[in-house]
Amino acid sequence: MNKTIIAPSILSANFAEMGKEIERICKCGADWIHCDVMDGIFVPNITFGPKMIKDIRKVTNLPLDVHLMITEPIRYIRQFAEAGADYISIQVESTAKVKQTLELIKSFGCKCGAVISPETPVSALAEYLPSLDLALVMSVHPGFGGQKFIDSALNKLAELRALRDKVNPACIIEVDGGITEDNVVEAKRAGAEAIVAGSAVFGSSDPKVTMEKMRR
Ligand code: DX5
Ligand code: ZN
Repeated sequence: MNKTIIAPSILSANFAEMGKEIERICKCGADWIHCDVMDGIFVPNITFGPKMIKDIRKVTNLPLDVHLMITEPIRYIRQFAEAGADYISIQVESTAKVKQTLELIKSFGCKCGAVISPETPVSALAEYLPSLDLALVMSVHPGFGGQKFIDSALNKLAELRALRDKVNPACIIEVDGGITEDNVVEAKRAGAEAIVAGSAVFGSSDPKVTMEKMRR
């Protein structure tokens, strides 16, 4: 079995110390850096844009896993790609142009991902699955860190995993929201291969141990 990918979400980092926070989390064994981009319209919160990705790119060589929670993401793909994103994922609910947006992401040489919110069924993602590098199941309502894991995500992960195995085995399945040392096993068993964790990692007194536990 392949190694679980741990992707700490910088949403829970101290924004005033972002460079140091990234270095700290890299030293502790992070695999990817998960960057939550929010526009205050698709979700009721605002975070940061391409400039943050560009500056983070200078302090780490780890893959930058950029999760766009913005309306009509097609408008900003070029900027995030040029800023140095490795993975760019879009919420399928955020646009009617999912296919075009995914194609645009690939045209810039980035890996593309599609994300479904808790109320969105796996079927909404299925038609894009053959061309995806990453398929992300939200296990909280997008917008904020520190929320409780929504259990129905487990069935969705299992459904997605079965479908993925059939149509695109290379696509990585990711889970995002409310993951802790206690529920990570269930999420992995259900099918998650990449684990996003914000508060559990940045809020840990020992992020290295927390990430090691999550990976095992
Ligand atoms: C929520 C974000 C998540 C969030 C996860 O909209 O997409 O990445 O930061 O944070 P935790 O792990 O604290 O739920
Ligand atoms: Zn996220």
